[in-house]
Amino acid sequence: MNFMESEFPKEYKKGFAKFLGLEIDLSQRPLIPRPETAFWVKAAIKEIKKEDKRKIECLDIFSGSGCIGLAVLAKVENVFCDFGDVDAKSIKQIKINLKINGLEKKRSKVIETDVFSKIKKKYDYILANPPYIAESRFHLIQPSARAFEPMIALDGKKEGMFFIDKFLKQAKNFLKPAGKIFMEFDFYQKKELEKALEKYGWQDYKIYKDQLGRERFVKIINI
Ligand SMILES: C[S@@+](CC[C@H](N)C(=O)[O-])C[C@H]1O[C@@H](n2cnc3c(N)ncnc32)[C@H](O)[C@@H]1O
Repeated sequence: MNFMESEFPKEYKKGFAKFLGLEIDLSQRPLIPRPETAFWVKAAIKEIKKEDKRKIECLDIFSGSGCIGLAVLAKVENVFCDFGDVDAKSIKQIKINLKINGLEKKRSKVIETDVFSKIKKKYDYILANPPYIAESRFHLIQPSARAFEPMIALDGKKEGMFFIDKFLKQAKNFLKPAGKIFMEFDFYQKKELEKALEKYGWQDYKIYKDQLGRERFVKIINI
């Protein structure tokens, strides 16, 4: 077996990955859902379940396979969740995953969008896992991710902050009053993240660690 064969992700070989009990089809080769993402999505779902609204509107942005929004749709009955991604292959992938998980159409829309460019409404929750790997840290990620997972899902450009910054700058326009954001990032970005939060006037936020004890996601409330 040569290097390339041995590094080929087993999830792509199998064609799917498990995410919070759901089967996520990977035929279009989106980012493979990660345990650290499942960790914060579980926390977000717990919080969404406490809402006493009849209809809770969510947006899964940078949605890739759709794993985040699919889990929320599957686990919370009164959620309506839209999906946004710039990549046509992801758009196809999300539609496949909605279908195979029996979560089609009625409670969701799939939107091809460059960050918020095609998003038209305000949501109660925005769930985001943007590309956040810095150019200077590419050599540190798993060789199999570098070789086989889509660059568009990983590349956060210069400091890994390009999409995080763009997202935080605009997100207020797409969040209802008291609406919440859950967003993933990497621990080394904490300082830059705090600077961006301050720059764009986000005052009520808290940073949380993942299952490995590393700062991994931020919850922001729109006050
Ligand atoms: C880190 S992946 C997250 C995928 C999935 N949400 C997950 O957690 O496994 C980032 C996703 O952002 C998408 N993306 C990259 N640039 C984008 C842009 N300008 N606007 C919207 N989505 C973008 C990529 O296609 C990719 O699917």
